[in-house]
Amino acid sequence: MTSPAESTSTAPISEGFVDTIDLTGKIAFVAGGTSGINLGIAEDFARAGARVAVMSRSPDKVDATVARLRQLGAEAIGASADVRDYTAVEAVLAAAHAHFGDIDVLISGAAGNFPAAALGLSPNGFKSVVDIDLMGSFNVARAAYQFLRKPGASIISISAPQAVLPSTTQAHVCAAKAGVDMLTKVLALEWGPAGIRVNGVIPGAIDGTEGMSRLAPTEQDRALITDSVPLRRLGTPRDVANVVRFLASPLASYVSGVILAADGGWSLGGAATTISAIGQPLLDAVGGP
Ligand code: NAP
Ligand code: COA
Repeated sequence: MTSPAESTSTAPISEGFVDTIDLTGKIAFVAGGTSGINLGIAEDFARAGARVAVMSRSPDKVDATVARLRQLGAEAIGASADVRDYTAVEAVLAAAHAHFGDIDVLISGAAGNFPAAALGLSPNGFKSVVDIDLMGSFNVARAAYQFLRKPGASIISISAPQAVLPSTTQAHVCAAKAGVDMLTKVLALEWGPAGIRVNGVIPGAIDGTEGMSRLAPTEQDRALITDSVPLRRLGTPRDVANVVRFLASPLASYVSGVILAADGGWSLGGAATTISAIGQPLLDAVGGP
């Protein structure tokens, strides 16, 4: 008999399984879809047959993403806008709607994060993350409503373990992402009668991403995090995309108002203890209590 530690695998459990959720003909819009986890989701939707529009601030990242999605065989378009600018966001959504028609799946994943003790955070530092994550999520969903397929559309917000677990050095992110989850649930209530499902996904610690490099910059940090994940491995963008695709699909036809974690169990507690432990020097540096 093997102990849990000996039987630990570094490979995603889904490897080798046949993919059966087809999104051929569906229109997907991914806000913040040009790098990391959200790019992984856009690529996954492209592979599943969807037509995909992406939006983020950097025109270069948008161009590279559109080229990548087309390389995967998808019809893809993109444009740059900052989610903090409602008018710009609405214009990009309108252009995507004019090009593709009604949007079936809206993924809202633009976010900013950096570790900082509350006493090391200026009001504008706090505000910048709340503006991108929370205001941005509102702007994207609010502007998209008019362009969504009704009935039938699905909105998926990308949240984080910080939404449910208070972690030191993450006051701004915890506040913003908790707000995103509440926004998700309220929109599920208000827009359900129009036949729109609204759900959220909490990614865990996803390897190779900007978020991970900011929160866990060293190999030692990565190891600490891996040990704190019940499944004892870091996640992949594919692990998150699988759940997003499920929520977007008819298999989730009666699922709304749910926040589903794709995190190997990290938001059961490990996320808070490790993020807080890694961030301790930032608390020490500001000489707080
Ligand atoms: P990332 O690579 O930095 O992706 C962020 C995306 O959002 C990029 O496409 C970025 O492109 C865009 N973006 C950022 N600010 C924007 C703004 N103001 N307006 C429009 N677009 C903006 O980050 P990631 O680590 O993959 O994280 C992706 C999502 O997963 C985030 O919602 C994050 O909170 C969540 N998450 C990540 C992890 C993790 O382990 N990485 C864990 C839990 C949750 P531009 O730079 O071109 O704007
Ligand atoms: N510690 C403390 N404060 C910080 C900080 C840090 N590490 N990084 C930025 N800030 C503060 C800035 O000092 C500024 O406050 P100030 O005006 O009082 O000095 C405020 O945050 C805004 O910074 P700025 O660089 O002007 O914001 P921006 O709008 O250009 O960028 C960020 C937004 C800061 C969130 C930036 O990191 C970003 O664009 N992130 C996107 C990518 C990302 O975070 N990916 C991971 C997702 S999980």
